[in-house]
Amino acid sequence: MQNPLKTVVFPVAGQGTRFRPATLATPKELLPVIEKPLLQFAIEEAVNAGAENLVFISSEDKPGIATYVGLPGVAADCHVTVVNQPEALGLGHAVLCARDYVRDQEFGVILPDDLIFGSTGCLPQMANARERNGPNLIAVENVALEDTSRYGVIDPHHTEGSKISAKGIVEKPDPKDAPSQLAVVGRYILNTSIFDRLATQERGNGGEIQLTDALAGDINRQGLTGYRFGGDRYDCGNPGGMLEATIAYARQRADLSETITRCLKTAA
Ligand code: UTP
Repeated sequence: MQNPLKTVVFPVAGQGTRFRPATLATPKELLPVIEKPLLQFAIEEAVNAGAENLVFISSEDKPGIATYVGLPGVAADCHVTVVNQPEALGLGHAVLCARDYVRDQEFGVILPDDLIFGSTGCLPQMANARERNGPNLIAVENVALEDTSRYGVIDPHHTEGSKISAKGIVEKPDPKDAPSQLAVVGRYILNTSIFDRLATQERGNGGEIQLTDALAGDINRQGLTGYRFGGDRYDCGNPGGMLEATIAYARQRADLSETITRCLKTAA
Protein backbone atom coordinates (compact mmCIF):
# COMPACT_ATOMS: atom_id res chain seq x y z
CA MET A 1 0.00 0.00 0.00
CA GLN A 2 1.69 3.26 -1.16
CA ASN A 3 -0.41 5.56 0.95
CA PRO A 4 -1.92 3.64 3.90
CA LEU A 5 -5.00 4.86 5.71
CA LYS A 6 -4.44 3.87 9.32
CA THR A 7 -7.84 4.42 10.95
CA VAL A 8 -11.16 3.24 9.56
CA VAL A 9 -14.55 3.84 11.21
CA PHE A 10 -17.53 1.56 10.64
CA PRO A 11 -20.90 3.11 11.54
CA VAL A 12 -23.00 0.03 12.27
CA ALA A 13 -25.58 1.27 14.77
CA GLY A 14 -28.52 1.55 12.34
CA GLN A 15 -31.66 -0.42 13.00
CA GLY A 16 -31.84 -2.29 9.70
CA THR A 17 -35.62 -2.02 9.49
CA ARG A 18 -35.65 -3.05 5.82
CA PHE A 19 -34.31 -6.44 6.83
CA ARG A 20 -36.81 -7.33 9.53
CA PRO A 21 -37.46 -9.88 10.92
CA ALA A 22 -33.82 -11.05 10.40
CA THR A 23 -32.47 -7.89 12.08
CA LEU A 24 -34.61 -8.28 15.19
CA ALA A 25 -31.89 -10.52 16.58
CA THR A 26 -29.01 -10.30 14.06
CA PRO A 27 -27.28 -7.02 13.19
CA LYS A 28 -27.78 -6.14 9.52
CA GLU A 29 -24.00 -5.94 9.06
CA LEU A 30 -23.63 -9.58 10.13
CA LEU A 31 -26.06 -10.84 7.52
CA PRO A 32 -24.03 -12.97 5.13
CA VAL A 33 -23.49 -12.95 1.40
CA ILE A 34 -23.39 -16.76 1.12
CA GLU A 35 -21.34 -17.45 4.28
CA LYS A 36 -19.40 -14.21 4.68
CA PRO A 37 -20.90 -11.38 6.77
CA LEU A 38 -21.11 -7.92 5.17
CA LEU A 39 -18.95 -6.65 8.02
CA GLN A 40 -16.18 -9.11 7.14
CA PHE A 41 -16.00 -7.79 3.56
CA ALA A 42 -15.76 -4.27 5.01
CA ILE A 43 -12.99 -5.18 7.47
CA GLU A 44 -10.94 -6.84 4.70
CA GLU A 45 -11.36 -3.76 2.51
CA ALA A 46 -10.11 -1.53 5.36
CA VAL A 47 -7.11 -3.77 6.01
CA ASN A 48 -6.29 -3.67 2.28
CA ALA A 49 -6.29 0.13 2.53
CA GLY A 50 -3.63 -0.13 5.24
CA ALA A 51 -5.85 0.11 8.33
CA GLU A 52 -4.41 -0.77 11.73
CA ASN A 53 -7.00 0.92 13.94
CA LEU A 54 -10.64 -0.13 13.45
CA VAL A 55 -13.46 1.72 15.24
CA PHE A 56 -16.96 0.24 15.21
CA ILE A 57 -19.89 2.48 16.14
CA SER A 58 -22.46 0.00 17.33
CA SER A 59 -25.47 0.15 19.62
CA GLU A 60 -26.56 -1.44 22.86
CA ASP A 61 -29.20 -3.37 20.91
CA LYS A 62 -26.54 -4.99 18.70
CA PRO A 63 -24.18 -6.89 21.03
CA GLY A 64 -23.43 -9.30 18.16
CA ILE A 65 -21.16 -6.69 16.56
CA ALA A 66 -18.76 -6.59 19.54
CA THR A 67 -18.84 -10.37 19.80
CA TYR A 68 -18.04 -10.80 16.13
CA VAL A 69 -15.19 -8.28 15.88
CA GLY A 70 -13.65 -9.68 19.07
CA LEU A 71 -13.36 -13.18 17.62
CA PRO A 72 -9.83 -14.38 16.83
CA GLY A 73 -8.81 -13.74 13.24
CA VAL A 74 -11.73 -11.48 12.33
CA ALA A 75 -9.90 -8.15 12.48
CA ALA A 76 -6.44 -9.43 11.46
CA ASP A 77 -3.84 -7.76 13.74
CA CYS A 78 -5.73 -4.49 14.00
CA HIS A 79 -6.46 -2.57 17.17
CA VAL A 80 -10.23 -2.78 17.65
CA THR A 81 -12.56 -0.41 19.51
CA VAL A 82 -16.32 -0.78 19.79
CA VAL A 83 -18.29 2.29 20.89
CA ASN A 84 -22.04 2.35 21.41
CA GLN A 85 -23.93 5.21 19.81
CA PRO A 86 -26.32 6.22 22.61
CA GLU A 87 -29.22 6.97 20.25
CA ALA A 88 -29.72 6.43 16.51
CA LEU A 89 -29.32 10.14 15.69
CA GLY A 90 -28.01 9.53 12.18
CA LEU A 91 -24.84 8.74 10.27
CA GLY A 92 -23.20 12.09 11.10
CA HIS A 93 -23.74 11.50 14.80
CA ALA A 94 -22.39 7.94 14.49
CA VAL A 95 -19.18 9.28 12.90
CA LEU A 96 -18.88 11.88 15.68
CA CYS A 97 -18.94 9.04 18.24
CA ALA A 98 -15.54 7.94 16.81
CA ARG A 99 -13.84 11.26 17.65
CA ASP A 100 -11.82 10.10 20.66
CA TYR A 101 -10.50 7.04 18.87
CA VAL A 102 -9.15 8.62 15.66
CA ARG A 103 -5.49 9.44 16.19
CA ASP A 104 -4.53 10.51 12.67
CA GLN A 105 -5.32 13.68 10.73
CA GLU A 106 -7.54 11.73 8.33
CA PHE A 107 -9.55 8.55 8.55
CA GLY A 108 -11.67 6.26 6.39
CA VAL A 109 -15.36 5.45 6.82
CA ILE A 110 -16.98 2.32 5.41
CA LEU A 111 -20.71 1.60 5.43
CA PRO A 112 -20.72 -2.19 5.24
CA ASP A 113 -24.15 -2.40 3.62
CA ASP A 114 -22.69 -0.80 0.48
CA LEU A 115 -20.77 -3.81 -0.80
CA ILE A 116 -18.31 -3.10 -3.62
CA PHE A 117 -16.69 -5.83 -5.69
CA GLY A 118 -13.71 -5.10 -7.91
CA SER A 119 -10.13 -6.13 -8.48
CA THR A 120 -8.97 -3.45 -6.00
CA GLY A 121 -11.24 -2.53 -3.10
CA CYS A 122 -12.88 0.89 -3.18
CA LEU A 123 -11.21 2.29 -0.02
CA PRO A 124 -7.71 1.17 -1.14
CA GLN A 125 -8.32 2.94 -4.48
CA MET A 126 -9.34 6.10 -2.63
CA ALA A 127 -6.42 5.87 -0.18
CA ASN A 128 -3.98 5.73 -3.09
CA ALA A 129 -5.72 8.54 -4.97
CA ARG A 130 -5.98 10.96 -2.05
CA GLU A 131 -3.87 14.00 -1.41
CA ARG A 132 -2.50 13.90 2.12
CA ASN A 133 -4.63 16.21 4.27
CA GLY A 134 -6.40 17.31 1.10
CA PRO A 135 -10.14 17.75 0.56
CA ASN A 136 -12.62 15.32 2.09
CA LEU A 137 -12.91 12.49 -0.44
CA ILE A 138 -16.15 10.62 -1.02
CA ALA A 139 -16.97 7.73 -3.35
CA VAL A 140 -19.57 8.61 -5.98
CA GLU A 141 -21.35 6.86 -8.80
CA ASN A 142 -23.98 7.77 -11.37
CA VAL A 143 -27.53 6.84 -10.41
CA ALA A 144 -30.81 7.11 -12.29
CA LEU A 145 -32.44 10.54 -11.94
CA GLU A 146 -35.46 9.08 -10.12
CA ASP A 147 -33.10 7.61 -7.48
CA THR A 148 -31.42 10.86 -6.36
CA SER A 149 -33.88 11.15 -3.48
CA ARG A 150 -32.23 8.09 -1.86
CA TYR A 151 -28.68 9.51 -1.75
CA GLY A 152 -26.42 12.43 -0.99
CA VAL A 153 -25.75 14.09 -4.35
CA ILE A 154 -22.82 16.35 -5.26
CA ASP A 155 -22.82 19.56 -7.24
CA PRO A 156 -19.81 19.02 -9.52
CA HIS A 157 -17.39 21.79 -10.36
CA HIS A 158 -14.38 20.36 -12.18
CA THR A 159 -13.43 16.83 -13.27
CA GLU A 160 -9.91 15.50 -13.51
CA GLY A 161 -9.63 11.76 -14.18
CA SER A 162 -11.54 9.92 -11.46
CA LYS A 163 -11.77 13.00 -9.22
CA ILE A 164 -14.57 15.53 -9.33
CA SER A 165 -14.22 18.63 -7.18
CA ALA A 166 -17.57 19.59 -5.69
CA LYS A 167 -19.00 23.03 -4.97
CA GLY A 168 -21.90 21.61 -3.01
CA ILE A 169 -23.59 18.47 -1.72
CA VAL A 170 -27.22 17.89 -0.76
CA GLU A 171 -28.94 15.07 1.08
CA LYS A 172 -31.67 13.13 -0.74
CA PRO A 173 -32.71 15.81 -3.26
CA ASP A 174 -35.89 15.49 -5.23
CA PRO A 175 -34.96 14.59 -8.84
CA LYS A 176 -36.15 18.02 -9.98
CA ASP A 177 -33.75 19.76 -7.56
CA ALA A 178 -30.79 17.38 -7.87
CA PRO A 179 -27.56 19.22 -8.80
CA SER A 180 -26.32 16.09 -10.67
CA GLN A 181 -26.82 12.32 -10.75
CA LEU A 182 -23.53 11.74 -8.91
CA ALA A 183 -24.58 9.97 -5.73
CA VAL A 184 -22.47 9.40 -2.66
CA VAL A 185 -21.95 5.75 -1.72
CA GLY A 186 -20.64 4.38 1.55
CA ARG A 187 -16.90 5.15 1.43
CA TYR A 188 -15.27 8.33 2.73
CA ILE A 189 -11.82 9.65 3.61
CA LEU A 190 -12.34 12.54 6.01
CA ASN A 191 -10.18 15.12 7.69
CA THR A 192 -10.65 15.24 11.47
CA SER A 193 -11.84 18.86 11.04
CA ILE A 194 -15.22 17.24 10.25
CA PHE A 195 -15.64 16.45 13.97
CA ASP A 196 -15.91 20.14 14.91
CA ARG A 197 -18.53 20.56 12.23
CA LEU A 198 -20.49 17.48 13.34
CA ALA A 199 -20.41 18.58 16.97
CA THR A 200 -22.42 21.70 16.13
CA GLN A 201 -24.41 20.31 13.20
CA GLU A 202 -28.16 20.75 13.52
CA ARG A 203 -30.51 17.93 12.66
CA GLY A 204 -31.33 17.76 8.97
CA ASN A 205 -33.23 15.40 6.68
CA GLY A 206 -35.28 12.86 8.68
CA GLY A 207 -34.47 14.66 11.96
CA GLU A 208 -30.98 13.08 11.89
CA ILE A 209 -27.51 14.61 12.14
CA GLN A 210 -26.39 14.19 8.55
CA LEU A 211 -22.80 13.64 7.49
CA THR A 212 -23.77 15.23 4.16
CA ASP A 213 -24.66 18.53 5.88
CA ALA A 214 -21.33 18.59 7.74
CA LEU A 215 -19.45 17.93 4.47
CA ALA A 216 -21.37 20.79 2.86
CA GLY A 217 -20.50 23.08 5.80
CA ASP A 218 -16.80 22.18 5.49
CA ILE A 219 -16.49 22.80 1.74
CA ASN A 220 -14.97 26.27 2.06
CA ARG A 221 -12.46 25.23 4.69
CA GLN A 222 -11.52 21.69 3.70
CA GLY A 223 -12.86 21.21 0.17
CA LEU A 224 -14.76 18.20 -1.14
CA THR A 225 -13.89 15.78 -3.92
CA GLY A 226 -15.98 12.98 -5.37
CA TYR A 227 -14.10 9.86 -6.46
CA ARG A 228 -15.44 7.64 -9.23
CA PHE A 229 -14.29 4.22 -8.12
CA GLY A 230 -13.76 1.10 -10.21
CA GLY A 231 -15.97 -1.87 -9.30
CA ASP A 232 -19.61 -2.82 -8.87
CA ARG A 233 -21.62 -1.60 -5.90
CA TYR A 234 -24.52 -3.47 -4.34
CA ASP A 235 -26.87 -1.81 -1.88
CA CYS A 236 -27.15 -4.65 0.60
CA GLY A 237 -29.29 -2.50 2.90
CA ASN A 238 -32.25 -3.57 0.80
CA PRO A 239 -33.27 -7.11 -0.09
CA GLY A 240 -33.00 -6.68 -3.90
CA GLY A 241 -29.42 -5.41 -3.63
CA MET A 242 -28.51 -8.24 -1.29
CA LEU A 243 -29.87 -10.77 -3.79
CA GLU A 244 -27.85 -9.22 -6.63
CA ALA A 245 -24.70 -9.22 -4.50
CA THR A 246 -25.24 -12.87 -3.61
CA ILE A 247 -25.55 -13.84 -7.28
CA ALA A 248 -22.48 -11.77 -8.25
CA TYR A 249 -20.41 -13.28 -5.43
CA ALA A 250 -21.51 -16.83 -6.28
CA ARG A 251 -20.48 -16.23 -9.90
CA GLN A 252 -16.95 -15.26 -8.82
CA ARG A 253 -16.54 -18.42 -6.78
CA ALA A 254 -15.09 -21.54 -8.37
CA ASP A 255 -17.12 -23.75 -5.98
CA LEU A 256 -20.45 -22.02 -6.68
CA SER A 257 -20.39 -20.60 -10.21
CA GLU A 258 -21.79 -23.77 -11.81
CA THR A 259 -24.62 -23.96 -9.27
CA ILE A 260 -25.64 -20.33 -9.73
CA THR A 261 -25.50 -20.59 -13.53
CA ARG A 262 -27.72 -23.70 -13.41
CA CYS A 263 -30.20 -22.06 -11.01
CA LEU A 264 -30.45 -18.92 -13.13
CA LYS A 265 -30.98 -20.98 -16.30
CA THR A 266 -33.72 -23.02 -14.64
CA ALA A 267 -35.38 -19.87 -13.39
CA ALA A 268 -35.22 -18.12 -16.80
P1 UTP B 1 -29.03 3.28 6.86
O1 UTP B 1 -30.11 4.27 6.98
O2 UTP B 1 -28.77 2.65 5.55
O3 UTP B 1 -29.15 2.09 7.91
O4 UTP B 1 -27.73 3.98 7.42
P2 UTP B 1 -30.37 1.63 8.77
O5 UTP B 1 -30.94 2.77 9.53
O6 UTP B 1 -29.83 0.48 9.57
O7 UTP B 1 -31.38 1.07 7.65
P3 UTP B 1 -32.96 0.90 7.61
O8 UTP B 1 -33.43 2.06 6.76
O9 UTP B 1 -33.50 0.95 9.02
O10 UTP B 1 -33.18 -0.43 6.95
C1 UTP B 1 -26.47 3.97 6.75
C2 UTP B 1 -25.36 3.50 7.67
O11 UTP B 1 -25.28 4.35 8.80
C3 UTP B 1 -25.35 3.60 10.00
C4 UTP B 1 -26.08 2.31 9.61
O12 UTP B 1 -25.71 1.27 10.50
C5 UTP B 1 -25.55 2.09 8.19
O13 UTP B 1 -24.27 1.48 8.20
N1 UTP B 1 -26.09 4.40 11.01
C6 UTP B 1 -27.24 5.04 10.65
C7 UTP B 1 -25.60 4.50 12.28
O14 UTP B 1 -24.54 3.91 12.62
N2 UTP B 1 -26.28 5.26 13.19
C8 UTP B 1 -27.42 5.92 12.87
O15 UTP B 1 -27.98 6.61 13.74
C9 UTP B 1 -27.93 5.80 11.57
